[in-house]
Amino acid sequence: MTHLAILISGRGSNMQALVDSAACASADITVVANRADAAGLDFAHQRGIPVAVIEHRQFATREAFDRQLHEQLVDAGIDWVFLAGFMRILTPSFVNAWNGKLINIHPSRLPRYPGLNCHQRALDAGDSTAGASVHFVTEELDGGPVIIQSIVDILPGDTADQLAERVLVSEHRIYPLAASWVISGKARLCQDQCCFDNQPISSPIQWQDGQWSLT
Ligand code: GRF
Repeated sequence: MTHLAILISGRGSNMQALVDSAACASADITVVANRADAAGLDFAHQRGIPVAVIEHRQFATREAFDRQLHEQLVDAGIDWVFLAGFMRILTPSFVNAWNGKLINIHPSRLPRYPGLNCHQRALDAGDSTAGASVHFVTEELDGGPVIIQSIVDILPGDTADQLAERVLVSEHRIYPLAASWVISGKARLCQDQCCFDNQPISSPIQWQDGQWSLT
């Protein structure tokens, strides 16, 4: 059986969306947190999902933390690693060890706004749309090939929080969809690109109002 690790640092709403998705229904899941107080752990406990807490503060270096994380994932027989609000930058050796098997969700339409405060930055730039991206993780922060992106309209008078809320609703749709594609092999990392149905895609799949399309 496919074994997924979902890595969280906080609320874990994307983790919940993955756990509740059809794509993950037939998979073994382990939730990993780098903080014992990650709120999402309550949900995992309630659902009886195995949990591993690896407190990053207990490691002297980023490398040491990532080595421990890697070893525990390997020991648990993990096939896929889904980052879901995991607030740690991973080292190149970790990222390379999980090349093609490590997926992240980021709340902007990459390559726009990698890093933090994406929603405020989109508002400040006067953008008319925002969204989220699911991508393969590479050494470049928020820079790996994007599988799918949502398109969410920015409304007049939107605050960053209001926009974040609507983008999050779309995250809960596109992350499970992308997970189903990755697990089934429909989407995969081929060289430095995302391949969909064995064809490299020149731009990410777009998702809007519940529909996805390949452009
Ligand atoms: C989401 O917006 C995700 O895109 C970003 O961090 C946030 C995590 O939210 N990487 P949650 O913990 O999944 O609720």
